[in-house]
Amino acid sequence: MKRMIIEGGHQLTGTIPISGAKNSAVALIPASILCDEEVRIDNVPNISDIAALEEILEYLGASISKEDNSIIINSRNIDNKEIPESISKKLRASYYFMSSLLGKYKKVEMYFPGGCNIGARPIDQTLKGYRALGATVIEEGNKYTIYADELKGARVYLDMPSVGATVNTLLASVKATGKTVIENAAKEPEIVNIATFLNNMGAKISGAGTSKITITGVPYLHSATIETIPDRIEAGTYVIAGALIGNNLCINNIIPEHIDALINKLKEMGVNMTINDDNIIISQTANLKPINVKTLGYPGFATDLQQPFTALLTQCKGTSIVEETIYESRMGHIPYLNSLGANITGTNRLAKITGPSLLKGTTVTATDLRAGACMVLAGLIAEGQTIVEDVDHILRGYENIVEKLTNVGAKITIEEIK
Ligand code: EPU
Repeated sequence: MKRMIIEGGHQLTGTIPISGAKNSAVALIPASILCDEEVRIDNVPNISDIAALEEILEYLGASISKEDNSIIINSRNIDNKEIPESISKKLRASYYFMSSLLGKYKKVEMYFPGGCNIGARPIDQTLKGYRALGATVIEEGNKYTIYADELKGARVYLDMPSVGATVNTLLASVKATGKTVIENAAKEPEIVNIATFLNNMGAKISGAGTSKITITGVPYLHSATIETIPDRIEAGTYVIAGALIGNNLCINNIIPEHIDALINKLKEMGVNMTINDDNIIISQTANLKPINVKTLGYPGFATDLQQPFTALLTQCKGTSIVEETIYESRMGHIPYLNSLGANITGTNRLAKITGPSLLKGTTVTATDLRAGACMVLAGLIAEGQTIVEDVDHILRGYENIVEKLTNVGAKITIEEIK
């Protein structure tokens, strides 16, 4: 277990380079095993979620080599064996292997995936996709055995635009016979990145990034490369840091369009920033206006930025309202923001934030990945020292967070607790 110690009040100036997107890379790696030759994935973030996926690759017998932030994977000789629960429960994205193994071998045995504790997170839509493709799904407790003589293209209508179910249906259908159509698909940029990777291997996918994706199955996928897109949630988190305590802080290597919803909210609040082609330069602004925000699937306001964003809302003059519509319990950060001096009331779905509040350092906990990011942001502006416990959650998704923030002037250290 690790904890972070932040001395608040230091202005951030300079450049923070953004890494490859966690939520793309965690799907690109499992997608790689559908390939019948070697693949190369560039711009992979060095985070613990990626390490957990590499562990699965190694367990299955894939050969992996790494060069800086690139991974070269050859899965020709993997052994399609049951993936133990001890590995699958480390992260949500482990179930992308369920789909790529099913897509490749027509059989898979695996357990329910893990992930942040932010709500129930069922996988019914993924299972519905498998069944539509003709697979039999046997559920025994946490264990799933899924098999098919043949996967046949089908129409899959998702009850909600689930990122996971969209990716899983893509992976399971890319080698099926005939045509699959995913309706009410998720439109996140990560989906486009994954479809591009598969198309680079020779898959036939169109419509990724819209709510209707069409996949025409192919029997063989050849060698390909892909670059992981920039992490829009990491970018958004540091943009918020800039709005809190930046002095011409440059958030670099980003696709600003991917955080349009955040940018528009910042503009409504009156934040001072310059948006360029691949970076945003942002500074702390006085007299921020309160706003209301509601989380939605892309291109709406990302649920993954809701928690970091709340740290900024504590500094607005007046009452702001955050409505979380994606997850039923993604408010783990609220009691800790209050212990730092914020004035927030609400429920599991709604937070009412009245500011501005002077935050004062104390000991807080990262209850999940993005709640942890919120704690770090709050610690950057809090008076005195903030200790963030359970920061292993944060290290699952933010590459080199301590170095990136220290390089622009923050005072942060991280230490192992025995
Ligand atoms: N849902 C169902 N049934 C399903 C699938 C989803 O009811 O079969 C519900 C979920 O319970 C949730 C909503 O639909 O309430 C959306 O879930 P979705 O499937 O879109 O989320 P996910 O694929 O599990 C990914 C990201 C999350 C991000 C969400 C939403 C990965 C590995 N995770 O999760 O990222 O919050 O999409 O954008 O891509 C994070 O990075 O901190 C994180 C949690």
